[in-house]
Amino acid sequence: MRSKKLALLAAGVGVSLAVTACGANQETPSAGSGQTQATTGGGGGAKVGVILPETATSARWEGFDKPMIEAAMKAEGLSPDIQNAQGDVQKFSTLADGMISQGVKVLVIAAINSEVGAAVAAKAKARGIPTIDYDRLNLGGSSEYYVSFDNVKVGELQGQGLATALKDKAGAQVIEIEGAPTDNNATLFYNGQQKVLKPLYDSGALKLVRSQPIDGWDNQKGGVTFEQILTANGGKVDGVVAANDGLAGAVITVLRKNGLNGKVPVTGQDATPDGLMAVLRGDQYMTVFKPIKAEAEGAAKLAALLAKGDTAGADKIATGSTDDTKSGRKVKSLLLEPKLTTKDGVKEVVSGGYVKATEICTGDLAAVCAQLGIS
Ligand code: BGC
Repeated sequence: MRSKKLALLAAGVGVSLAVTACGANQETPSAGSGQTQATTGGGGGAKVGVILPETATSARWEGFDKPMIEAAMKAEGLSPDIQNAQGDVQKFSTLADGMISQGVKVLVIAAINSEVGAAVAAKAKARGIPTIDYDRLNLGGSSEYYVSFDNVKVGELQGQGLATALKDKAGAQVIEIEGAPTDNNATLFYNGQQKVLKPLYDSGALKLVRSQPIDGWDNQKGGVTFEQILTANGGKVDGVVAANDGLAGAVITVLRKNGLNGKVPVTGQDATPDGLMAVLRGDQYMTVFKPIKAEAEGAAKLAALLAKGDTAGADKIATGSTDDTKSGRKVKSLLLEPKLTTKDGVKEVVSGGYVKATEICTGDLAAVCAQLGIS
């Protein structure tokens, strides 16, 4: 299914993103494969700088994005320099300065927040270096291109997941643990969730206890905040919107302490190994699988074209459009489709090469995997 959708997408824009072959996924290093060192590529071609935002907010950045961007850029003949700012805005700027002075031809930015992302893009622009916003759009920024997922849809899938899980529980009490208010994606996820949940809150089918954004997507803070809200609500909760798998994990730890794990559906996102294990165990109702390999390949393809100054070619790929709600600018975009993943969908994530069965089918989960045909 996923391959088909991407094939259509690639055909639709008249380029081969080379993301369609299932077999190609097999070579993808999977999450947790330990490739955490900074990479200076051997692609031989134009130097491209890539700055990732964090490691602690989600296992995706080092586990999926980094190895997949590296492979995709090398396949494009580029020479990638991929660094992670570890949530430190100062470090983010310093890394960008270093890459700009090294003479990168293109800069790919997945920023900690819009402010630092926009500042870096402006600096690059002043030196004539094109920038691509990766995954997170920098509001008020100047990047001509944006590669990401349909992030409102991600939120809708989370809302749908929770609504389905609670459909027989009239008046179920819901706590929402949201992402960082400084990440435009967190706003889009929230907007998508509310498309589904707000009518249910309004009708009384569900009852919102509280919705709380978590600064910096800090998983630990998410757990502490959830516990406080739960306690203030007399220990009562029937469902939790957790904006990603990291926050879901922190919520589940608190639920477990209260004997509620497995009884209270929790949402997530990123299809991380821990998230998938929680789904298999029944502690997390769903995650959202985002084919990051396609995101990485889209960014690499765009970077290769921009490095050659081929903006017409880049425009053929980035046929979508995203609103920068701060500046009112429309940013040319390549947006990929996310997928709702419950227990039955874990097999597809494994067969797509994102996560190895040996990583998630351990201990108590070996039997669950066997039952679901995951190997
Ligand atoms: C990404 C999510 C990720 C979150 C925290 C968001 O911008 O889209 O995939 O879980 O940041 O890192």
